[in-house]
Amino acid sequence: MARTSGSDIGVGLWITAVTSNPDFLVITPVTVRACPVRSVALTDRERVVCKYGTIFTMPAAGSVMNGTPMVSAVGNGTHVQSSLETNGSTLGPQGKKSPSTRSGETVDNVAWKTDLLLYVNGLRTVLHQVAPETTLLQYLRLRGLTGTKLGCGEGGCGACTVMVSSWDTALQRPRHVSVNACLAPLAAMDHCAVTTVEGIGSIRAGVHPLQRRVAELHGSQCGFCTPGIIMAMYTLFRNHPEASAGFLEENMDGNLCRCTGYRPLLDAAKTLLGPGARGAGCCRGGKGSCPCQEASDKPVPTEGAADIHVHATTEGRVKDLARYPPLERDPSTEPIFPPELALAHPQPLRFVSKHMTWYRPTTLAALLSLKAAHPEARVVAGNTEVGIETKFKQVPVPVVLAPVAVPELNVLRVTEAGVDVGGAVSLARLEHFAGQDQAGLKQREEEAFKARGLEAVHAQLRWFASNQIRNVASLAGNLATASPISDMNPVLVSLGATVTLASQARGERVVPVRSFFRGYRKVDMLEDEVIKTITLPFPASRFEFVGPYKQARRREDDISIVTACLRVRLVPVASQSAEGRWVIEEAGFGFGGMAPTTVAAQKTEAFLRGKDWAVSTIRAASQVLREDLPLPATVPGGQAEYRRTLPPSFLFKFFVKTTLELESLVAAAPLSSPLPPVPVIPAAERSAARSFLTEPKPATRGEQRFTSVRVGEGLQDYPPGAPHTPAPAEEIAKGRGAVGKPVMHKSALAQVTGEAKYTDDLPMPPPPGLLHGALVMSTKAYARLVSVDATAALAVEGVVRFISYKDVPGGNKIGAVVKDEECFATQEVHHVGAVIGIVVAETEAAAGEGARAVKVEYEELLPVITNIEEGIRHNSFFAFDHTLESGPNVEAMLAAAAGNKEGAVVVEGEMRVGGQEHFYLETNATYAIPGEDGALEVWASTQNPSKTQNFCAYVCGVPTNRVVCRMKRMGGGFGGKETRSVFISCTAALAAHLTQRPVRISLDRDVDMHITGQRHAFLARYKAAAGMDGKLLALNVELFNNGGFSLDLSGPVADRALFHVDNCYRWPSLRARGRIVRTHQASHTAFRGFGGPQGMVITEAIMDHLASALGTDPQSFREKNFYQEKERTHFGQELVRWHVPRAWEEALREGQVAARRAEIEAFNAAHRYRKRGLCAIPTKFGISFTAKFMNQGGALVHVYQDGTVLVSHGGTEMGQGLHTKVCQIAARAFGLEEEQVHIAETATDRVANSQPTAASMSTDLYGMATLDACQQILRRLAPVRARLGGEKAEWTAVVQAAYFERIDLSAHGFYIVPDDMCGYDWEKKGVTHNSERGQPFNYFTQGTAVSEVEVDCLTGDARVLRADVVMDVGASINPSIDVGQIEGAFVQGFGWLTTEELIWGDADHPWVKPGSLLTRGPGAYKIPAFNDVPIDFRVTLLKDTKNPVAVHSSKAIGEPPFFLAASAFFAIKDAVSAYRTQELGIDGFFPFYGPASTERIRMACVDDLAAASMEEGIEAAGFQAKGSW
Ligand SMILES: Cc1cc2nc3c(=O)[nH]c(=O)nc-3n(C[C@H](O)[C@H](O)[C@H](O)COP(=O)(O)OP(=O)(O)OC[C@H]3O[C@@H](n4cnc5c(N)ncnc54)[C@H](O)[C@@H]3O)c2cc1C
Ligand code: FES
Ligand code: FES
Repeated sequence: MARTSGSDIGVGLWITAVTSNPDFLVITPVTVRACPVRSVALTDRERVVCKYGTIFTMPAAGSVMNGTPMVSAVGNGTHVQSSLETNGSTLGPQGKKSPSTRSGETVDNVAWKTDLLLYVNGLRTVLHQVAPETTLLQYLRLRGLTGTKLGCGEGGCGACTVMVSSWDTALQRPRHVSVNACLAPLAAMDHCAVTTVEGIGSIRAGVHPLQRRVAELHGSQCGFCTPGIIMAMYTLFRNHPEASAGFLEENMDGNLCRCTGYRPLLDAAKTLLGPGARGAGCCRGGKGSCPCQEASDKPVPTEGAADIHVHATTEGRVKDLARYPPLERDPSTEPIFPPELALAHPQPLRFVSKHMTWYRPTTLAALLSLKAAHPEARVVAGNTEVGIETKFKQVPVPVVLAPVAVPELNVLRVTEAGVDVGGAVSLARLEHFAGQDQAGLKQREEEAFKARGLEAVHAQLRWFASNQIRNVASLAGNLATASPISDMNPVLVSLGATVTLASQARGERVVPVRSFFRGYRKVDMLEDEVIKTITLPFPASRFEFVGPYKQARRREDDISIVTACLRVRLVPVASQSAEGRWVIEEAGFGFGGMAPTTVAAQKTEAFLRGKDWAVSTIRAASQVLREDLPLPATVPGGQAEYRRTLPPSFLFKFFVKTTLELESLVAAAPLSSPLPPVPVIPAAERSAARSFLTEPKPATRGEQRFTSVRVGEGLQDYPPGAPHTPAPAEEIAKGRGAVGKPVMHKSALAQVTGEAKYTDDLPMPPPPGLLHGALVMSTKAYARLVSVDATAALAVEGVVRFISYKDVPGGNKIGAVVKDEECFATQEVHHVGAVIGIVVAETEAAAGEGARAVKVEYEELLPVITNIEEGIRHNSFFAFDHTLESGPNVEAMLAAAAGNKEGAVVVEGEMRVGGQEHFYLETNATYAIPGEDGALEVWASTQNPSKTQNFCAYVCGVPTNRVVCRMKRMGGGFGGKETRSVFISCTAALAAHLTQRPVRISLDRDVDMHITGQRHAFLARYKAAAGMDGKLLALNVELFNNGGFSLDLSGPVADRALFHVDNCYRWPSLRARGRIVRTHQASHTAFRGFGGPQGMVITEAIMDHLASALGTDPQSFREKNFYQEKERTHFGQELVRWHVPRAWEEALREGQVAARRAEIEAFNAAHRYRKRGLCAIPTKFGISFTAKFMNQGGALVHVYQDGTVLVSHGGTEMGQGLHTKVCQIAARAFGLEEEQVHIAETATDRVANSQPTAASMSTDLYGMATLDACQQILRRLAPVRARLGGEKAEWTAVVQAAYFERIDLSAHGFYIVPDDMCGYDWEKKGVTHNSERGQPFNYFTQGTAVSEVEVDCLTGDARVLRADVVMDVGASINPSIDVGQIEGAFVQGFGWLTTEELIWGDADHPWVKPGSLLTRGPGAYKIPAFNDVPIDFRVTLLKDTKNPVAVHSSKAIGEPPFFLAASAFFAIKDAVSAYRTQELGIDGFFPFYGPASTERIRMACVDDLAAASMEEGIEAAGFQAKGSW
């Protein structure tokens, strides 16, 4: 019998317990609330009763409880105190005093422990002999904790983030760090407490405030990123309870979200900021004149203020008083650190498996002895480099030595000369040390200059990888890896750091870091040596200055393109002239990205020595720097010209920065001993010292304005001729079933708690008999298959079968529209990644090993076509050729314009825009289960269950009625799972069918990106004319899209581009032709916008060209050429309810564009190297599938006897909120609360023959179909209701009565877009006007965006300062979901046009294998991150717009806002134009292709630095950065 005494559980509160069992108790989260424990029945270990009378279960220690427990509170009579304070961070129990530090210790006399102790969400777990290659993520997921997701497996997305806590003996408190579980070895978790998203809250036991707020504030759409984001934020709050908004924003650098655009996530976290962070005296959502109130009251619009919701965020405050008052986080509710972990010392550990032996020695002697005994051993600290090598390059690592428990490798100490950093010290610990001035240098004024080196270390580390990586990765690991683009190595070189190497045989030796690098990834370290310490020397004088620089594609968590650290020591020299001068005594310049290793620019250093500190010296040094750092045109990594511009740019920036610092010192010098004057930096050039990396990032703010509930206003003729029935007034008054309410996403709570299941989570823990599939894929772009030999694969232990085309019992010919692909390649392969077969095995690892063991012999074929231009040259086109023509003959019009030189301008040119990877956070996954009679149940992450069903049946050779495809939710789709997922599912379904065992396949991120296709890259060739009056005359444009190896959806994509090539402008004469180029790439496919954005961005580039030729400003030129109401588009559709001019006017007015333009001009005049730009862009996006037959949808509605409703419909939920909106529609129809309506899953046996969830159409189709079914039921119920009192009758009573009266309470609803509102007949002959071909779109969703950006012209870095989006979404069914779609689409579109660049192996990228995709993971491919959110992001839903042709007068919203990010693209171009015009005197148009990467931006700023970086004979003005189009 055990007893508890004492009182509350929580911070600083003690719990005392006596138990005969040494095991720990585990208490569910709610028990941790400050709640005096009354009794604990420890005999049965089941209950704790607190003063609130709540009973909490306590599972026995070590038991596995999915997703709930988290706290170990008492044990063994130990007194335990919880602590929430922490500091510093490193994985593993370092910092503890080792029990044994004897020298002379050898491997043999160490007592190796083989048990691992860890706590997972409070559950004590002891593992015997873990397989050391197991990652923490694999372990957690196998344990059923599937809230922790696998998004990339390479530390780049953050979906796997967990909190790892260990005891810091030095600080005597727990240390909590966020960690990427996908890279963290399970073996490294000894004596750690791991907290996953399930550990901080659950729906049943109570959600954590952070989880609640993310859900309430619409921060979770598809939800796949959500648990990782919550755990990253949770760890930040745990460590910094008083975190400020700025701190929060700066530190969310390790997580990606593809859906939300990040703003709501930041808002959610901001509602939890402590009062200190929000400012003293905040009313916390009460009343009064608190700044938190003023923040959002300001922008309330003038008209109709009463029914407008304004939800605004300002720095540190989120404001929507009605719904989101600031919420206090209660620290006493947080999980407590397990006391047992605070008591133990680390023991030597050894784990052995077939492939790896893993040691954790606790003494240096043992480490060195092991290294001597195993020269092949890798010392692995954070595993952020080795983990990647083993996973992606299959580098064998037979022996691992973990140095984290060796005290000598954990030192971080200040010496006379500098700072010693131990060989296992984490970057986060170093960052903290440097940032907090723990060396205490700044406290002593005379020594403050010594801190400059550490400041540079701190500044560089801020942009090194992510928090999660820095928490575990070491400086030694960075040094030893010797990556040419390492960020820290140039700093070490520049500062003159040394490395101390230790070995058992020879003791220690010290090597300067400068001479440590011996070649590409080769260092001066012998096999038996380890890095013991790295010593960072202090600057020697107060006139020594240091500047770190880094340029990457994206600011956050990106590897460098070029990285540098520059240091000079100046001396004041008296001269003949009275004032004296500054002379360079020493320079230390380290560079990365300019050679196969980190290099010192030695010639430049020598050149500078003894020279005056003057701009002329720097100019001359730039030339020497170019000689120092030559870069061949074909350098691996590419971007040679851009990379050549960066060192001189950095040098100039450093010159200005140093001079300004020196200026302050000179100004502060006493009059008695004056210092020489410094070079004069003109006011306009001072901003060159700044960089987006070093200056504080302004906290973001947001504003969302929308009309409040508009129940019953939506009118549509449905069924045709019958007026829509408004909800009963009484129900509306109760606020029930209110279409128009911003209700929370139906799955939000399940997503924030990690309870939401995705396809990859389904069989977890795996059911017996489950097989895993791995694809055997072509490594050649175009080849004949000579032989395929699976003998070696079948010999791999655990491999069950290899399946190829020979085993296909059904059809092997597949394809989305035409069957021009093969499920498994037969004779030839047409792209890298073509599926040749599938290996199924008992484990995932065996399947992978088996797939790699299959030997494929190829005979390579020619020509390999890798881009659009090669395709055109080789006449490699698909049989698709559509032309749209309208108005008078375009050639005649253009000729007339060309002849009328006074009255018109004619322009001719090209526009290119790159593809885009979907980067849904959840990769393609399928789980197929065979059943009787040839049946198959296929769970797939797909937007297209019906096609999945059809093709799985077809390939397996079974009738379609035997196959059911089920889809619960997707972790994002964006079009990428409309067709390409289907063919992955076929392989798993076939394997299940043939083996009669369940088979799952889940693609690795790199495989998914390589083989499933992307958004189509486009090339346009155009000729266009406009009159001098500023009116458009004619456009002749040819659009080529890169279709990849098969047609897939490239035809409809080309069609949509043709339909949108007018954007919002009336071209009196237009001809647009669309062609699809066949290349040897993966088949490119649907992606949000489906060709529309490509068509529109081409138009806007042409508008820009024409405006430039006319010498007019593009904004008024665009406005002048808008369509007017009732005008017809080039395809003949009449524009009704035309709201673009209104949205445009509102965006310009609310965005105060006129005033801001004046401000921008003033800013640009005052800043030579920083320029701002602004651009407004409109959009209209046609809603309907362009294939007429697809505009249909079905739904099945069941009403149960308790009055609840189950809806099934043909659409799939991928985060866009479709199920939520459909529930609102059903709830509204029946007058119920949304909670009374449920959608379980999408399944082909519930609703058959569905269309893919695509084209933004799903609410229109399935909302209407659901409404139809509801109305059928309502009609049947009407007589019963009338008998029971009419409107007043209680719903459940009506339902029950109907049941007993044998009335059918189920109905199948169906909807088609009316015949005359969709479909376009391209082939129709004899038409006189395009309107006779049909009307492709039911209606248009319309809008406008205005973006303002700032560009650093010296580096090409850019930032969106403000974006205003005004969108016509009709009467929104759920404004918050619509706002979420707008923000998410805008940020995704921004990625497409800026940071996201696909690089394929082609003539321009010869270092990549032809036809191979280089950018196939978050490491190389950069979607926008938290730091890319517009600083000020405002979204307004246009008021009073009616759309009588869609459900409840709403409009589709998924795709239309995507294109509006083009406003940021053209704003960047505007800023570059300002630089060219104002600083270089270059006027006129210049082509600017997408994406506007930092390279393209910098190289468009054709100044002398850019000119000097060109190959001989190439003019900077005509230069175009290479791209994959
Ligand atoms: C998502 C992600 C982002 C990244 N971003 C950046 C970035 O922005 N900038 C950048 O420069 N790098 C980046 N990296 C690379 C990597 O994080 C760094 O190189 C890191 O410093 C490696 O440290 P580690 O402790 O994890 O090394 P490990 O993987 O543990 O080891 C790496 C190598 O160092 C050796 N080693 C480690 N410690 C010792 C020692 N004491 N003695 C001898 N050899 C040793 C190992 O044997 C191994 O060869 C990134 C990596 C990832 C996964
Ligand atoms: S799955 Fe670990 S960071 Fe992506
Ligand atoms: S909600 Fe973030 S990726 Fe979908």
